[in-house]
Amino acid sequence: KKVIHIVGARPNFMKVAPIHRAIAARTPLQQILIHTGQHYDVKMSDVFFSDLGLPAPDVHLGIGSGSHAQQTARTMVELEKVFLEHKPDLVSVVGDVNSTVAAALVSSKLAIPLAHVEAGLRSYSRHQPEEINRVVTDRLADLLLTPSRDADANLLKEGLEPDRIHFVGNVMIDSLLASKERAEQLPVLKSLGLAPHGYAVCTLHRPSNVDDPRVLGGLLSAIAHVASRIPVVFPVHPRTRKMISEQGLGSAFERNPNLRPVDPMGYLEFLALTSQARLILTDSGGLQEETTALGVPCLTLREQTERPITVEEGTNEVVGTDPDRIREAADRALNGQGKKGRVPEYWDGRSGERIADLFSRFLSVEQGSLRA
Ligand code: UD1
Repeated sequence: KKVIHIVGARPNFMKVAPIHRAIAARTPLQQILIHTGQHYDVKMSDVFFSDLGLPAPDVHLGIGSGSHAQQTARTMVELEKVFLEHKPDLVSVVGDVNSTVAAALVSSKLAIPLAHVEAGLRSYSRHQPEEINRVVTDRLADLLLTPSRDADANLLKEGLEPDRIHFVGNVMIDSLLASKERAEQLPVLKSLGLAPHGYAVCTLHRPSNVDDPRVLGGLLSAIAHVASRIPVVFPVHPRTRKMISEQGLGSAFERNPNLRPVDPMGYLEFLALTSQARLILTDSGGLQEETTALGVPCLTLREQTERPITVEEGTNEVVGTDPDRIREAADRALNGQGKKGRVPEYWDGRSGERIADLFSRFLSVEQGSLRA
């Protein structure tokens, strides 16, 4: 029996790596890895394969950037050919990017069973393109693999059948736990002249935060305030870099030597940076979860989160985009009153194994013993 995995964008790679590894170790399933090419820069893609021990993709579709319709449609056209050629017994998609929903639509129409890893997350804001991708993918998936119990509840509320829903935990945390020690041995802090717990990290890439100059300008001013107290390392996403230069906002960096823009980082380098940070400011989804797993205070620069467990149980605080509110929350965190939390259930490094076992049960193949 054959499983096809789809990856496309940066946040997909760390979710697929543990599943791929666990399937290889525990089951006789054949695996094919397809990279849509939604992300294509070396620093947004290739470096993650080597950092995570993910084999090179069997098929690379080279889709690239475009409008949502262009990117999704091009991916669908190419994936249909590949699915018809390889005839998989199961297609597995992760997360909520355009590559995820494209693969979900194509596999469903070809009547190929579909598994969605990270099912059931909801921000309840359709202004967020990922929310549309989540809702559509979950509606179509035969196996809904959830990272937290709130996701199960969301799916049940939407009328999805309980026997399709399986709580497996957070597979991205498998990658984090497997890599943390190795990451912290890298000379990342030293090369940036930083002391452990003596700096903050910031990331921004949501269209709603970076495409509007007023919002982006406000966020940069709040981040500059943090940088007046502590060095802030800011790995800049290509979308954000483009917007900062188009909108002439680069002076925020020139005026402030403690605000340090750097290129996007590889998985291990970035983990070394986040795991030893004092505070993280972000609009990323994955980073809200990683900070909760690491116990590092996180300020989420968005109005809502699809990952409420990171607020209820973890170290996350959703502070929106008002610069005053961000400054105030950052000051509190830097004064030692950052949020403390606990690690949620099943964020234990074994989600990939649970998923591999579920896939083999679903496809009725015999389960091997754990070799690793
Ligand atoms: C995508 C995902 C988002 C995820 C993010 C992580 C969707 C709808 N969005 O957003 O959920 O959080 O990835 O990074 O799928 N670009 C490059 N090099 C690259 C990739 C992109 O320069 O390798 C630039 C291009 O100008 C492109 C822009 O970034 O137009 C946006 O890329 P795109 O993949 O459309 O969306 P992201 O903002 O990266």
